[in-house]
Amino acid sequence: MMALLRSHLDGDDKEFLSVAMQAAAHEARLGHTTLAQQLRDLIDEAKRRPSAVENRPGQLIVLEPRGELANLLSVQSPSARLGDMALPEALLDRLNRVLLEHRQQKKLREHGLTPRRKLLFVGPPGTGKTMTASALAGELHLPLFTIMLEGLITKFMGETASKLRAVFEAIRQTQGVYLFDEFDALGAHRSQTNDVGEIRRVLNSFLQLLEKDSSQSLIVAATNHPEMLDRALFRRFDDVLEYELPAAEVVQQVFQRKLAMFQASDVEWSRVLPEVAGLSHSDLARASEEAAKKAVLRGSTRITTEALLVAIQERKAAAR
Ligand SMILES: Nc1ncnc2c1ncn2[C@@H]1O[C@H](COP(=O)(O)OP(=O)(O)OP(=O)(O)O)[C@@H](O)[C@H]1O
Ligand SMILES: [Mg+2]
Repeated sequence: MMALLRSHLDGDDKEFLSVAMQAAAHEARLGHTTLAQQLRDLIDEAKRRPSAVENRPGQLIVLEPRGELANLLSVQSPSARLGDMALPEALLDRLNRVLLEHRQQKKLREHGLTPRRKLLFVGPPGTGKTMTASALAGELHLPLFTIMLEGLITKFMGETASKLRAVFEAIRQTQGVYLFDEFDALGAHRSQTNDVGEIRRVLNSFLQLLEKDSSQSLIVAATNHPEMLDRALFRRFDDVLEYELPAAEVVQQVFQRKLAMFQASDVEWSRVLPEVAGLSHSDLARASEEAAKKAVLRGSTRITTEALLVAIQERKAAAR
């Protein structure tokens, strides 16, 4: 018990879990099998949970945003990986470079270099921008904080600016991936509001805070309306990554990943591939799911070309 408490106070997760395992074994030897099993289950669960603490021994992390931040940030511990995604080779290379630089940041910083950590994702809906932020967090075992722009932008400029500062303070204090999703909300408001100057000031204060930030967090902004964003904005990011509707090779990848648990060997891809022009990754993923559901409801795991074609037509009609 003492050892447990000490390791907890020291923030030593590994030691904590190992002492807990010993306690479970001890209970098992005493014949307290149910208690021992309950302990083991809890330990397994704790091990499965991707932990931000793991990367920074000795430092405590408050995962659930509190106070003012509660309405601005939502937090997740994603388990997604880049390998779950179907992306063009060039994009994947650039994302892997972000991971590498993040992992080796100590080395880079020792030589006065900074890792890429301010990213802008631009591209049409459903092409994987949000999913990428989640996969980066998953790969780096970092929490994903999504900034809710609705909560950020208020009628009162002073309030908005102070909220924005609070978000950047969190970025500095708690290492994580911070996603400003549907970032165009900032830009879009510009044309809708009467007070153009006000949104300008929000954008400017965002830019200043972004520029000043030298934390160890990754900052990701995603948008599907690049034309709404200021040129000045693009320059402040270390990398601007462009997402596109899936090319032919990527299309088949999306289908095959989604249908991995099903029998899709009879599908005539030469009939399917020409039909998907204009559909996003998200549309393809949904079409696969529809075809799979139909198969399952028929009591089979075999996907037919026809079922897939019908599902694709449905997606196209919905996209129109
Ligand atoms: N590149 C991809 N590879 C595999 N699946 C994908 C990919 N892109 C999207 N998907 C599927 O589509 C879903 C929606 O994608 P996501 O939310 O990442 O799109 P987005 O680019 O953020 O779109 P939006 O601009 O509308 O926010 C994902 O949860 C996933 O199931
Ligand atoms: Mg998105």
